[in-house]
Amino acid sequence: MSQPALFTPFVIRDITFRNRLWVSPMCQYSVEKRDGVPTPWHTVHLGSMAVGGAGLVMTESTAVEAIGRISPEDTGIWNDEQRDAWKPIVDFITSQGAVAGIQLGHAGRKASIYADWNFPGAQGTVPDQEGGWQTVSASATAFDGYLPADELSIADIDALVETWAEAARRSVEAGFTVIELHGAHGYLIHQFLSPLSNLRTDEYGGPLESRARLLLRIVTRVRETIGEGIALFVRVSATDWVDGGWNEAETAKVADWAHAAGADLFDVSSGGNVTGVKIPVGPGYQVPLANFVKQHSHIATSAVGLITTPELANEIVEDGRSDAVFIGREMLRDPHFALKAAIELGAEIDYWPSQYLRAKPKPTA
Ligand SMILES: Cc1cc2nc3c(=O)[nH]c(=O)nc-3n(C[C@H](O)[C@H](O)[C@H](O)COP(=O)(O)O)c2cc1C
Repeated sequence: MSQPALFTPFVIRDITFRNRLWVSPMCQYSVEKRDGVPTPWHTVHLGSMAVGGAGLVMTESTAVEAIGRISPEDTGIWNDEQRDAWKPIVDFITSQGAVAGIQLGHAGRKASIYADWNFPGAQGTVPDQEGGWQTVSASATAFDGYLPADELSIADIDALVETWAEAARRSVEAGFTVIELHGAHGYLIHQFLSPLSNLRTDEYGGPLESRARLLLRIVTRVRETIGEGIALFVRVSATDWVDGGWNEAETAKVADWAHAAGADLFDVSSGGNVTGVKIPVGPGYQVPLANFVKQHSHIATSAVGLITTPELANEIVEDGRSDAVFIGREMLRDPHFALKAAIELGAEIDYWPSQYLRAKPKPTA
């Protein structure tokens, strides 16, 4: 029997992924010391999914600077202490045969918010006296329910591009071989891309080329910094789900520009920049967006969003609607989802962990 498409290897530059079933970035809000340094929780959480057979294990959105954290409890990679704490986590993921990826993020006007469960009932921006901070964005606007951001000056933007590049340098030093720039879900890069949050009249606002300038500058500098062998992904929201907002046609154009600047794959998600929109949520609901970008650009894509069965994940790759799939919540329910998917799809894999061999289902004759 031939190998199911989901379990065929995928190569980007010097990186070979053992399969196309990948762990989606997921914030854990678990840095209790609020210093951005990953903890034993991150080791076990990410490590378990590497043991569980995923091809790529991606960290949560990890801040490129302190004020870029979504919550004060986010991980970061803006200093050497953080880099050094990531290293053993990367080493473990890699020792299990998975590729280790880091999602670099800056939340912009959506930063400094309360972590999900640490402050029950608390919503919106964390005030200064509780360890929050003034946020920044493309324009001095607020995300619904949050405090307004300060508009970044041109000098601030220049510095920020270098901040992303420095975070990418530290990521490579920690051993990550996939770097993903978080350009989705209404965070800083998305705030620049979307005309709904970017009201600038300088070279970073207005026409598409200008709104995309920050992303493209970051892609260029990060590629220069990480060298040619490392894979560079961009997570995008392909649409704001509202007329007059950012959309899939613009996403596909920017995908080609980003590809030319050194990006290898667009990880296609959606939404997050404006509230009150109608999203047709259902199994694989964002796959058509990934497929659109794939059909209308020259970059590889991945799909994400309510892909919870091995069959659906395999079909998406087999039909060529995207090159790989990211799995989020199903991985939390079952960190060994990839091993089980291999059994269910009849894939031949040689990375069932030796320690768990006695639990491997026997083929039925
Ligand atoms: C607990 C949690 C944390 C998340 N954090 C991030 C994140 O750090 N970066 C990101 O791009 N998406 C984040 N997401 C979105 C997921 O990566 C994924 O796109 C989304 O959950 C849809 O996929 P799923 O239906 O397989 O869960 C998060 C989702 C969850 C459930």
